[in-house]
Amino acid sequence: MPSYALIRPLLHLLSPESAHGVAIWALKSGLAGRARASDKADDALLATRVWRLSFPNPIGLAAGFDKDAEVMDAMLAFGFGFVEAGSVTPMPQPGNPQPRLFRLDEDQAVINRFGFNSKGLEHFAEKLAARKRLGATGIVGANVGKNRDAPDAAADYATGITRVCGLADYLVCNVSSPNTPGLRGLQARTQIEDLINRVLEARYNAAQDKNNLPPLLAKVGPDLDEAQCQDIAEVALATKIDGLIVGNTTITRPPLKSRHAAETGGRSGPPLMTLATQCLSMMYRLTGGKLPIIGCGGVASGKDAYAKIRAGASLVQLYSALVYHGPELVARIKRELASCLRADGFQSVSDAVGADHRR
Ligand code: FNR
Repeated sequence: MPSYALIRPLLHLLSPESAHGVAIWALKSGLAGRARASDKADDALLATRVWRLSFPNPIGLAAGFDKDAEVMDAMLAFGFGFVEAGSVTPMPQPGNPQPRLFRLDEDQAVINRFGFNSKGLEHFAEKLAARKRLGATGIVGANVGKNRDAPDAAADYATGITRVCGLADYLVCNVSSPNTPGLRGLQARTQIEDLINRVLEARYNAAQDKNNLPPLLAKVGPDLDEAQCQDIAEVALATKIDGLIVGNTTITRPPLKSRHAAETGGRSGPPLMTLATQCLSMMYRLTGGKLPIIGCGGVASGKDAYAKIRAGASLVQLYSALVYHGPELVARIKRELASCLRADGFQSVSDAVGADHRR
């Protein structure tokens, strides 16, 4: 495959959504080539066990890139330790009108207001099932959302979890997309408590092996204040949900250079790193380190991934940095992360999780 530095100027001639469509098409058709980055086995230092899953490395692809579960294995082949598909909604829906995706080149950031465009749960589940039938290896998460006009939000999440339980290695309820009206309100204490209890019940009922339930996580936003984080931390511990993802895109708009900086939607990429890592750190403290957290938001280097881990992340995810650096970034991040861990004398990723809180 030619290097991304050569392809990027061509891709960036297209609108961001068309470029993404071309990337998905090339990955689906095999034109993007099975990546070579992963031909080399991961550094043993990066192997980590979270829940009962053995990750070859802690760097994952965040939700939103592969909304319809069509290129999971192609993305795993780039060297990701895990890939999260979704968000999927129970019924197919078109999402918001275009344009709804913006590259903020000068800031290396992205703004999106997709609003859960989705081919729907049946398509999504069939893709996961087909992969399972083929015996594909590699850790895949399934991220579920709700339809825009759903009368009972929690029921949509329960429908999603019921259908994908048994088809993915871990499950996620995304309650933090800023692009579906009212969705982020589900992070309030009573709502999230009700939602988590209902999806935990759905998972239990759907699981064939009641002693081996797939981990269930909630994905929250990076814009939560301490009181909101405290509520979520208490509910997460009390309901015994398996983990949290911190977090989604931000609705905050500190001044940026790009002409698209004021577009409505969720902003992601490097300018989100500090905010998202502060929120992650707060959540780690408030959960007493008892709950695995996936740190997401602004990661573009091994140093960033290391900072997330030290702040309390057991695993790390990224998306936006791929837009600017391409899939070759994954190998670089892993190399840099291993160097950071070695330089500070850590024997494993898990030894470094939350290290900043023990200083
Ligand atoms: C996203 N993100 C996202 N998250 C999610 O849970 N479900 C989704 O459907 C989407 N869709 C989506 C589309 C686009 C275009 C982007 C850029 C992002 C959020 C994503 O998973 C991640 O949480 C944030 O983008 C922050 O990470 P990065 O991009 O700064 O590494």
